[in-house]
Amino acid sequence: MSVASRTSTARVDQFFTVAEARFDRWRSLLQAARDWEEAANQSRAEKEELQGEAAASLAELRQWEDFFAYPGQQLIARLSERISSGDAPGTARLAQSISAALLTHSYRNDPSEWEAEGSSAVALGERVPVYSDGAATYRPYFEVLVVSPARRTAWSQLGEELRKLRRPEDKFVYEPVFVGSFEDGFLATILNGSIEAVIIYEGISFASSHHSPVLREFLTSHSETLGTSATAGQYGLALARSLKLLRPELDIYYLCDREAEKLAGDPSTATIRRIFYQVEEPLELHLGILDGIAERYSTPYFDNLQKYAQRPIGTFHALPIARGKSIFKSNWIRDMGRFYGINLFLAESSATTGGLDSLLEPTGNIKLAQEKAARAFGADHVFFVTNGTSTSNKIVEQALLAPGDIMLVDRNCHKSHHYGAVLSGALPLYLEAYPLTQYSMYGAVPLRTIKKALLDLKAEGKLDRARLLVLTNCTFDGHIYNVERVMEECLAIKPDLIFLWDEAWFGFARWSPFYRRRTAMGAAAILERKFKEPAYRRAYDEQVRKLGSNPSDAALLQTRLLADPDKARLRVYQTNSTHKSMSSLRQGSMILVKDPDYHTVEEQFHEAVFTHASTSPNLQIIASLDVARRQMELEGYEMVNRAIQLALDLRREVNRHALVSKYFRILGADEMIPSEFRESGFVDCLAPGMDWGKAAKSLREDEFALDVTRLTLVCGSAGFDGTQFKNLLAADYDIQLNKTSRNSVLLQTNINNTRSDIAQLIKVLVEISQNIEKNLADGGKEAQAAFAARVKSLMTDVPDLPNFSSFFKSFRPDASSSTPEGDVRAAFFGAYREQQCEHLKLSSPEIDKRLKEGPDLVSANFVIPYPPGFPIMVPGQVINAETIQFMRKLDVKEIHGYTAALGLKLLSPLFLESALSATGGTTEAGKNAKRKSAQAA
Ligand SMILES: Cc1ncc(COP(=O)(O)O)c(C=O)c1O
Repeated sequence: MSVASRTSTARVDQFFTVAEARFDRWRSLLQAARDWEEAANQSRAEKEELQGEAAASLAELRQWEDFFAYPGQQLIARLSERISSGDAPGTARLAQSISAALLTHSYRNDPSEWEAEGSSAVALGERVPVYSDGAATYRPYFEVLVVSPARRTAWSQLGEELRKLRRPEDKFVYEPVFVGSFEDGFLATILNGSIEAVIIYEGISFASSHHSPVLREFLTSHSETLGTSATAGQYGLALARSLKLLRPELDIYYLCDREAEKLAGDPSTATIRRIFYQVEEPLELHLGILDGIAERYSTPYFDNLQKYAQRPIGTFHALPIARGKSIFKSNWIRDMGRFYGINLFLAESSATTGGLDSLLEPTGNIKLAQEKAARAFGADHVFFVTNGTSTSNKIVEQALLAPGDIMLVDRNCHKSHHYGAVLSGALPLYLEAYPLTQYSMYGAVPLRTIKKALLDLKAEGKLDRARLLVLTNCTFDGHIYNVERVMEECLAIKPDLIFLWDEAWFGFARWSPFYRRRTAMGAAAILERKFKEPAYRRAYDEQVRKLGSNPSDAALLQTRLLADPDKARLRVYQTNSTHKSMSSLRQGSMILVKDPDYHTVEEQFHEAVFTHASTSPNLQIIASLDVARRQMELEGYEMVNRAIQLALDLRREVNRHALVSKYFRILGADEMIPSEFRESGFVDCLAPGMDWGKAAKSLREDEFALDVTRLTLVCGSAGFDGTQFKNLLAADYDIQLNKTSRNSVLLQTNINNTRSDIAQLIKVLVEISQNIEKNLADGGKEAQAAFAARVKSLMTDVPDLPNFSSFFKSFRPDASSSTPEGDVRAAFFGAYREQQCEHLKLSSPEIDKRLKEGPDLVSANFVIPYPPGFPIMVPGQVINAETIQFMRKLDVKEIHGYTAALGLKLLSPLFLESALSATGGTTEAGKNAKRKSAQAA
């Protein structure tokens, strides 16, 4: 392998996981060293060439290694010496041990990894990162970035001083990483996910000491975060602010050489954890660093649960499995005990004493754990929920909505929201997402549609009843809203509109500096800052002047609206299935609240929790929510980067693989999002000519973006429908996936995936593609024609997706209303009386007759086919020809709310007539009946 091909691993698109790219660079050096070692018997010129390659490989990786504590300058210097002295075996041995230590992370707890064989262990022993007292206690390891204006030569001395402060009592152990400038501090924080705390000295310079184009690209990608702060001039303080935007979880310490007291009182230093006057108290600094980590590490609920489990407790309450005696002593079920282990049972209780606290009314450890989660997610309050986001959504909706309130909601949303409307009595006003008909799925709701709905309500004098906007971010298929813009423009029309962002799939996004701004909490933080800026107020005043006192709807729809910063109330709620993207047990979910008016709904919020939460919540789920928060605060950044990188790798490998790409394709942003919603001109992360400036601009500006970790793999072009392909992967290859559509499957990468998983999937796709090729070759013309017909049927003959038609008149607030909200609850409960319903077989000619001549076909319940998984009928909805056509074409087996043997469940015309006369109207059938009886009279 040539140096060029070895170093090509430093691709710009290997961006998110510096850790993986680092392993590759070390493996390249190792390979170069081995080639050199194996050339022992070759000519001198050949050996020199290979020696040169090893030196070039080392030079390539060296620029990156400045940002990491291990292997550190000493081991790298040793490697360099070995190369220049012609010691090929020594180079290979050292490169081997370093790359293995990096891969296994053994350097974090094995002092010997920091020593090169042949070096003096005594001399090096002083700089090993692990405090070795022979105890078996595991001390988590992390790195501390020190940004110092001191000369490079003074860095090792400073490092030694920090190491001398280590004590046996320390719960964690850290190694310092030194850099000298603003840009290098920023780069180190992007690149090194092990950095958990940063010490910034006053007086640092600005420019990076590195001149690598790839490193420059990293800076460009974060130019927004960098740019705003770096102009401040005070580079140390500016760096502190930038790093907090980049990774809000980091603890920052500032060491100044003047007026520490004044700085500490300055609001611009609020994000700094502690300010010290130079290093006058090094031990305090050391203890402060450990204390900061301990604060994130501490999991009050889980910690207490572990202690509780160790106590001898007699239980006289109703949970026989608590303590496990009925299990471990059982003749018949002791295998359950063996399988799960004793701790699961020792950590069970139905008591709320002993520090176990009550999820329904937390005052102790659960309250503390929730407060920590609120800090981590940037919310005011967090509520843990142990029955999934299905319940979280219903809690929020019940808390915020009263009967008759209007809830604007994506019709394509999760069914919990529809049930939320049924339970609360709110009137859903369904918003249509743009369709992706070819893949039988929906995108997201265009902002114009949302604004239009609000303006229509305003025209009807009903805006005051529009209380909540519910959107799914990101959608199942990965469409991410421009959350900031949606809220800003909606608040411009209705300043007290409340937002519920269902981020069931997107909780992890908080830990990506790229995605954070597109999360509910990230966008709320941006808007909160913006609304306080004088420049924003000026821009708003200017917009008001331009639009005039009574702007037309057309002008408001066209304008990128700014909200009145004096009137806008940023009332933001988010729900996330913590179990879907973080290390929580299944059903672990959180509700995040950032609402200055929360106190006005607090009481009803608690009522809603009481309504929906079990009085016997699962303690292990609560503990896992606490632990999931700890993990994300300490390693979320690195893990999320890796999940994103793996998704990009998978996308690239599938779409560029000569054989696989003949049959399969992973859809890019350009195929999932029409160009009108990609205003910046962004195409896709993997499109030719893509650079990180463009990607960052797209995330900042475009109406929709694609979460790359949600991968729509088109399989219809390989002759499989989604369900078939899902079953094939599960049955023959033990691969499970997320969901299916008519001609695609949805794959997802998350913090649990590894490069081996990706390799396995690619291997499987290659094998399936080879089988297709073979079958087509063996089967001759007939097989090829059948294959082409199957592909055409799956990819081209796709049914049109039906839009929401309308609610039947009696379920509309008033018959003359031109806005489409409806009383889904009245229709839902109308179906509770058997005599008020009827069934019609889908194939029955009666359906076609009724479509033409009436009376209206009105759905009695939710009908949700899987896939696509959204309700194509809701209670009270008038069923039109498109919906029937879609149902008839649908070839899926699982349709909730529909039993083929019985047919469609409808509200009977008689019931509808009586419902309508109760509201003062009548149906066509009613009119006909009246006409007939009048004629008869
Ligand atoms: C958008 C959305 N919201 C909510 C939920 C429900 O989440 P949970 O499974 O945690 O109840 C789902 C589940 O798939 C979902 O896709």
